[in-house]
Amino acid sequence: MKNELILLKLGGSLITDKLKPFTLREDVLKRLCTEIRDARQEKNMALIIGHGGGSFPHTSATKYQTQKGYVNKDSKKGLSVVCNDAAKLNRLVVEELISAGENAISVQPSACCITNKGKITDWSLNNIKKTIKDGYIPVPYGDAVLDKSNGCCIVSTEEILGYLSKELGAKRIILAGKVDGVLDSKGNLIDEINHKNFKEVKKHIHGSDAADVTGGMITKVEEMLSLANNGIESIIINGLKPGLVKNALLGKKVRGTVIRK
Ligand SMILES: Nc1ncnc2c1ncn2[C@@H]1O[C@H](COP(=O)(O)OP(=O)(O)O)[C@@H](O)[C@H]1O
Ligand SMILES: [Mg+2]
Repeated sequence: MKNELILLKLGGSLITDKLKPFTLREDVLKRLCTEIRDARQEKNMALIIGHGGGSFPHTSATKYQTQKGYVNKDSKKGLSVVCNDAAKLNRLVVEELISAGENAISVQPSACCITNKGKITDWSLNNIKKTIKDGYIPVPYGDAVLDKSNGCCIVSTEEILGYLSKELGAKRIILAGKVDGVLDSKGNLIDEINHKNFKEVKKHIHGSDAADVTGGMITKVEEMLSLANNGIESIIINGLKPGLVKNALLGKKVRGTVIRK
């Protein structure tokens, strides 16, 4: 790939109000899309933007226990409902990116992935590769998908971006949420997490402060740490602070928690 490929996640906690079902933070999403466009105008970069589901699919995913698989007679209905709820937010994100001037194309994970125990095993990427090569921004998202062992599961945006980074050879993942990064018990920012200090900092890291069926901060950090073994560096930043996403995309040093080997 000619330009550096960057993977950006817009957290569900950032673009929605996770405490109110189906509530978009429209002003935040608008600003983020503008920052993304401005960064790409300043510097050539290939980009995949993934986003979390926030208060769109998390409510139905919790109701139908989709993460646990086919657990009862309503599980298949649950899968359909969760996919539909996740797609509703995706349409809004893609629409806002287009309004900002970016040629964004929705990628529906439930239509292209199969997982085994929550890990993606099957996903042919020819379409995404060509989409990027032709200058578009693919926009996948946390979704409900079919799972070989359990029937169904929720695949997190982190799992999706992790799979894509390994398969496409990306070296940088930016995770934007509503907190400054990983904080210790006193609320101070932990600048870096690596294999050496993880055991120590782990005791400060918990799930989410809202409905998040994919594990919140601790799962996020564990997944990024496992990607670090493949030479992939990630940073968790606060997307509510104007300019941070833009500067992170441009490769500038920004406040946040870096996760590296
Ligand atoms: N040590 C920690 N530092 C920062 N946030 C933490 C920590 N432990 C738990 N959290 C919670 O994890 C959340 C981030 O995870 P999550 O809600 O899944 O975000 P997203 O929707 O962006 O994936 C934070 O907003 C915070 O509520
Ligand atoms: Mg999450």
